[in-house]
Amino acid sequence: MCKNPACGTVWSGNTETAGVAGKIHIFVKEYFQMETMTEKSISEKIMELENRYGAHNYHPLPVVLDRGEGVFVWDMDGKKYFDFLSAYSAVNQGHCHPKIIQALTEQAKKLTLTSRAFYNSSLGEYEKFITQYFGYDKVLPMNTGAEGVETALKLCRKWAYEKKGIAANEAKIIVCEGNFHGRTISIISASTDPDSKNNFGPYTPGFVVIPYNDVQALTNALKDKNVAGFLMEPVQGERGVVIPDEGYLATCFELCKKSNVLFIADEIQTGLGRTGKRLCCDHENVHADILILGKALSGGTMPVAAILASDEIMLCIKPGEHGSTYGGNPLACKVAIASIKALEEENMYENSNSLGKLLLAELKKIQSERSDIVVTVRAKGLFAAIVIKERKNKTAWELCLELKENGLLAKPTHGDIIRLAPPLLITEKQLMDCIAIIRKTVLSF
Ligand SMILES: Cc1ncc(COP(=O)(O)O)c(C=O)c1O
Repeated sequence: MCKNPACGTVWSGNTETAGVAGKIHIFVKEYFQMETMTEKSISEKIMELENRYGAHNYHPLPVVLDRGEGVFVWDMDGKKYFDFLSAYSAVNQGHCHPKIIQALTEQAKKLTLTSRAFYNSSLGEYEKFITQYFGYDKVLPMNTGAEGVETALKLCRKWAYEKKGIAANEAKIIVCEGNFHGRTISIISASTDPDSKNNFGPYTPGFVVIPYNDVQALTNALKDKNVAGFLMEPVQGERGVVIPDEGYLATCFELCKKSNVLFIADEIQTGLGRTGKRLCCDHENVHADILILGKALSGGTMPVAAILASDEIMLCIKPGEHGSTYGGNPLACKVAIASIKALEEENMYENSNSLGKLLLAELKKIQSERSDIVVTVRAKGLFAAIVIKERKNKTAWELCLELKENGLLAKPTHGDIIRLAPPLLITEKQLMDCIAIIRKTVLSF
């Protein structure tokens, strides 16, 4: 038997000499019954498996990751990479953060899921911790980010009918062009991205789309008395780390207040330190009416999301009106507490802020050296993007392939944009090593 208790596979390799990578290789060889398989073809074979048996809803970079620790990940051949995507900012605390893994494993041995049919011994502790930490009355725990957004949309509509007094089924929610809030039918109904949207209709009504970073457009849209909420990302991550003008968040918040409209901040990607503060809204002292969190709320260990709001808003939802079997499970509760504590106690907000400035300054230098390739760079905390000028066979995808060869993993978003988002515990020395890789790759591109 494989000595890895999670594996349980029958294998005949020599544990002492094979090492971890060797064990995996032997397992894969046996799985495919291909004794003659070369080291390289093992990764290829694994990629083939995903291609053959998995839906083609992603287009991954051709690298098979097998292990992660802190800012690093390793492929099947033991090659080490800097992770500059952090699982779309879910791994802000670094891979396999010891305290998060400890919380996960300790709780996993005790109690994992009760459903909300009963109380559990972790949920109340978590609810108290997270509401006090972010300054809200109540939290509604969910699992994925998209569920968090769906929950916020439902809560906003409920509040609109029961508190604001909008006539039944007339409530509207304003969203921004270029948004990304997830993949469910209602959320893509609010999307302007054809890939997310085309051939998935009919769509959910009730959304009004305005340009991002346009205060006048919001002012005009708010004249409609049926508007219940304004759902926005403080930085548009998937669109390519699009950062609005300073003051935009605070102005939008004020405008919403004047119109009795809920300001709903989707901080699923921007929150929990990514932009150099606890929340991106903290940059402008905005306390959103509904705050949506996900991703790094579990440090990349499991799907954990939440929405936070005041009693006046949250208590519009009553028993039986919304929920999820896994939402608020004891495992997620313990993991979320440990994930937030790791960010706070290990100074990751400040690290993201100061190293983000360094990253931007260095990216600007690279841009000035190769302005024929790099159109623009931008960053807020350790949330950065390089926009490249695409040439034939020299797209952002090819640049990411070359970065991979040089030991750094990043992924294009929207064609010509490469998002850079390392784990927030990266050191200055590691960051400078990464900048050297990016410089070398761009200069020779
Ligand atoms: C801003 C934002 N909202 C929502 C989501 C959806 O989260 P999930 O993929 O966990 O459903 C994402 C995911 O990238 C996101 O970036």
